[in-house]
Amino acid sequence: MMKRKIILDCDPGHDDAIAMLMAYAHPAIDLLGITIVAGNQTLNNTVRNGLSVAQLLDMGTKIYAGMPQPLVREQLVAGNVHGKTGIDGPVFDELKRTAEQEKGVQFIIDTLMKSEGEITLVPTGPLTNIAVAMKMEPLIIPKIKEIVLMGGAYGNGNFTPSSEFNILADPEAAYVVFKSKVPIVMMGLDVTNQTICTPEIIERMEAVGNTAGKLFGDLLRFTLKTQFEEFGLEAGPIHDATTIAYLINPELFEVRDMYVEVDINRGPCYGRTVCDESNVLKRTPNAKVGVGINNELFFDLVEECIRMYKA
Ligand code: BDR
Ligand code: CA
Repeated sequence: MMKRKIILDCDPGHDDAIAMLMAYAHPAIDLLGITIVAGNQTLNNTVRNGLSVAQLLDMGTKIYAGMPQPLVREQLVAGNVHGKTGIDGPVFDELKRTAEQEKGVQFIIDTLMKSEGEITLVPTGPLTNIAVAMKMEPLIIPKIKEIVLMGGAYGNGNFTPSSEFNILADPEAAYVVFKSKVPIVMMGLDVTNQTICTPEIIERMEAVGNTAGKLFGDLLRFTLKTQFEEFGLEAGPIHDATTIAYLINPELFEVRDMYVEVDINRGPCYGRTVCDESNVLKRTPNAKVGVGINNELFFDLVEECIRMYKA
């Protein structure tokens, strides 16, 4: 099987942790490294969370700390959804793993510069690391095979009526990435909100009986609560996992070509991904935007990944 070489750039985060779990386990993915960015919580928190998940699942992948602040705006975190630590719920053992000395942005640049166009970037947090890497070394841009990201929406936002958290947390970085001309797959809220993880699904994953299944349950039981309190949802979506599912099996998704631009005006639409759904601008599309998902097969795939952990 041809493996997809990826760098996962995340801000763990409950759903980021599921993306990590799937990316490391599935044989279709070659996880070259995990870079971490500030987002769901401050960078110290998101790095610690990423290391804790990796330690628990005995993941061999190296972890690199990235940007601690967005490019221009003041820092925004999502404590309302992910709690004080950024990953409230699971209780992790004392942390023995540490992040690499090399910084996340440098790792992205060095890895891409050595590559021949075969590496896909998978951002599931604010796009700060990716935008900084592009600005620091523009020669990486034509080397990126594709960017498969979770962020944005052509419908409503989840942090303002217009904007989704990952884009709103660093709109200027997202602007740079969407203007880069790298082929983008955008898994926005329109599709990720469909990945509702009910209590029955949580029980099914826990019933696998291994560490990964228990982690899934501990994570998703916490978000069940916050999704209800924050958004009135009966169960929580696992947004970020859609990126990895798409890379493993794109046929689970319906995507549509659109021209997407990020609003960086400081009005009510700050951080909106303005998607030209009806092609009124007649511009060349710069993104494949997720519109539909086969939820049953999606959760089968999540279970398949959980079952790959032996302990
Ligand atoms: C996105 O924001 C974060 O809270 C989640 O981890 C996900 O990446 C959803 O809007
Ligand atoms: Ca995330």
